[in-house]
Amino acid sequence: PSSAASHVEALLASYPDFPQPGIVFRDLNPVFADALAFRAIVDDLADQHRGQFDAVAGIEARGFLLAAAVGYAAQASVLAVRKGGKLPGTVLTEEYDLEYGSARLELEVGQLPAGTRVLILDDVLATGGTIAATSRLIERAGYTVSGVGVVLELTDLHGRERLGTAPMHAIMSL
Ligand code: PRP
Ligand code: HPA
Repeated sequence: PSSAASHVEALLASYPDFPQPGIVFRDLNPVFADALAFRAIVDDLADQHRGQFDAVAGIEARGFLLAAAVGYAAQASVLAVRKGGKLPGTVLTEEYDLEYGSARLELEVGQLPAGTRVLILDDVLATGGTIAATSRLIERAGYTVSGVGVVLELTDLHGRERLGTAPMHAIMSL
């Protein structure tokens, strides 16, 4: 495994029955809180997709932490994909289902040229609903999804099957 993966494996915390019974919540905050581990995961996400993106899209809330850092490291544009009702102006909306509940994601239009290659970043791939909705927003905005990067993939939930054909890299899978 990569050094990023060994950091994640060492620091990842698991909470049974959070936020509701039957869910084992995987908490990556200890990974973000460790300076070396955070640098390792950011570098790994940037390296895996190097040369293949002009912009990163971070998904609220934890994807923002990754997108800001990877965008800086790779000198790429940063797009914020936000939960419903937060963005002004002309926005695109997509509804999606979560492992627990449902929600809405939005993206402002017209921030980048058509055809911009966008790397989607988030902390966890669970059912894939969040990243699938984000992919639809990116495509509807006229951009291209050139890759997907996550820190942790929960393979039991088969989220990968809901994503498109763009290369998907998970630092660690459980
Ligand atoms: C979590 C996580 C991912 C998403 C993964 O965020 O950070 O964005 O769920 O789930 P999925 O693959 O089943 O769609 P959450 O919606 O809990 O929002 P938060 O970051 O605002 O807490
Ligand atoms: N951890 C963090 N985010 C999540 C999870 C999880 O286990 N499941 C769905 N989103």
